[in-house]
Amino acid sequence: MAKNLQVLGIESSCDETGVALVELRGSELPLLLAHALHSQIEMHQAYGGVVPELASRDHIRRVLPLTEKVLLEAKRTLADIDVVAFTRGPGLAGALLVGAGVACALAAALKKPVLGVHHLEGHLLSPFLSADPPEFPFVALLVSGGHTQLMQVDGVGRYTLLGETIDDAAGEAFDKSAKLLGLGYPGGPALSRLAQNGDPAAFKLPRPLLNSGNLDFSFAGLKTAVMVQAKKLALAQGCAVEALPSAMLADLAASTQAAIVEVLVKKALTALFQTGLTRLVVAGGVGANGLLRQQLNSECAKRRLRVHYPELHLCTDNGAMIAMAAAMRLQSGQQAASAVYAFDVKPRWPLDLL
Ligand code: KG4
Ligand code: ZN
Repeated sequence: MAKNLQVLGIESSCDETGVALVELRGSELPLLLAHALHSQIEMHQAYGGVVPELASRDHIRRVLPLTEKVLLEAKRTLADIDVVAFTRGPGLAGALLVGAGVACALAAALKKPVLGVHHLEGHLLSPFLSADPPEFPFVALLVSGGHTQLMQVDGVGRYTLLGETIDDAAGEAFDKSAKLLGLGYPGGPALSRLAQNGDPAAFKLPRPLLNSGNLDFSFAGLKTAVMVQAKKLALAQGCAVEALPSAMLADLAASTQAAIVEVLVKKALTALFQTGLTRLVVAGGVGANGLLRQQLNSECAKRRLRVHYPELHLCTDNGAMIAMAAAMRLQSGQQAASAVYAFDVKPRWPLDLL
């Protein structure tokens, strides 16, 4: 019987350092043994967004202690690691270089092979780590801070782009709208928290490309509409946007969230209808949004469609999804780990070119 493989995964593409160990057991779904995460949110908060140089330096500080923590928790040692996987892109170049450099140095020292993983493939396959894993084929709605895409997924590495944003991503729409309402970074969770006390029908905001007939998205105009509405209110109240009465801010937040979610839900359902597939997988940070989950659950239930999500704590960036994607690629024969330790990173890297 083939030996189980221990796959270490390192994520460092943006503002989270994530490390995880996954066990690959023959043809079974790989098993997550342990994972550890350090979020840099607090550090970047003072600047209202991610400062790339600070991100890189912090990844350097965190990656080895997190690796030690994961090994301890998984009751494994460095010598047990069979493959070292890392996020090769897309993401911030300097931040990616930290994970790639550490992974390749560690692998070279251990004389074990390395494997570079596509960050979005990590998100896409992260629902396989949940208690209710999907089966292929499915439609994936990938909604992260930098990407909004609908993909047809026929298997590991078999991805067809169905549609994507022509400007801002959904996560960006959350983040930018939150910023102009004076909410902190990252804006998505802050805006959705505030929206809980607001009326989603209070302001009529645009649903860009809702009826375009294709599966593309556009969110840049929405952010502008939120800004115009907020400034109008501020002028009428004679105050700054951030100083608007909290009920008004909550209404604006709820209306913004409702506009983003309506477009995402409608396009996801259209993608299922057009492909004839009956299974939807939602992945990426915006997949943590409560309203999005609620509406997708109810719309899919009405149509007898299945919808799968990553566990809430694995929606945003983490090492588990990188170790899992590497293990699933190895298992499917899509990619072999390599003993070449010269590395590069791909800050821009379309998933459908994988
Ligand atoms: O996937 P992710 O962690 O990082 C990227 O790969 O980009 O996604 C981060 C994005 C941010 O835009 C953040 O505001 C958004 O996910 N996000 C949310 C929520 N939690 C995170 N957006 C809406 N509602 C949330 N609950
Ligand atoms: Zn991500």
